[in-house]
Amino acid sequence: MKITSIATMILGLGLLMSSTHASAGDEKKVDFAADIQPIFKESCVKCHSLDPKKPKKHGAGGLLLDDKAAAFKGGKAGKDIIPGNSKDSLLVKLLSGPVTLPDSEEDKEIKAMPKPKKGEKWKPLSDDQIAIIRQWIDQGANWPD
Ligand code: HEC
Repeated sequence: MKITSIATMILGLGLLMSSTHASAGDEKKVDFAADIQPIFKESCVKCHSLDPKKPKKHGAGGLLLDDKAAAFKGGKAGKDIIPGNSKDSLLVKLLSGPVTLPDSEEDKEIKAMPKPKKGEKWKPLSDDQIAIIRQWIDQGANWPD
């Protein structure tokens, strides 16, 4: 085999490896304002807000999702968003179904989110929306001021 073809092979292999590596590590950086906030606004804030126009339901579960400090503080169940750890973030778990809190007195179950209106069936967020919320939290839950 000629030196040039070996060199071409090595070069080709290198390119192949770097391109597969790039696609695996090339995770899009989630943009809070563009990717996450619209989901919260559309599906969550009508209940998780201190907006005085929604006085009956404000801060459901003690959680506000339209205020950075309050959102990271969490709700009645404690911290709902754990930056860097979507797996243990209650907010993420609730998007897939109800969660029973392990150390509460009467085995309190929190309903799946977004909570449906009375009499309606639970309609989960889309898989894409759930995936991007997970990704946002795993990337550190960056929420610009
Ligand atoms: C129709 C009103 C409503 C909507 C819409 C809604 N929630 Fe809730 N949420 C509630 C209520 C009420 C509770 C308290 C429920 C309970 O304790 O069982 C709650 C509790 C929670 C909790 C637990 C808070 C804690 O610390 O105890 C999280 C997290 C949460 N919601 C996230 C969300 C997210 C994310 C969305 C949007 C995808 C959403 N919710 C949409 C009404 C709503």
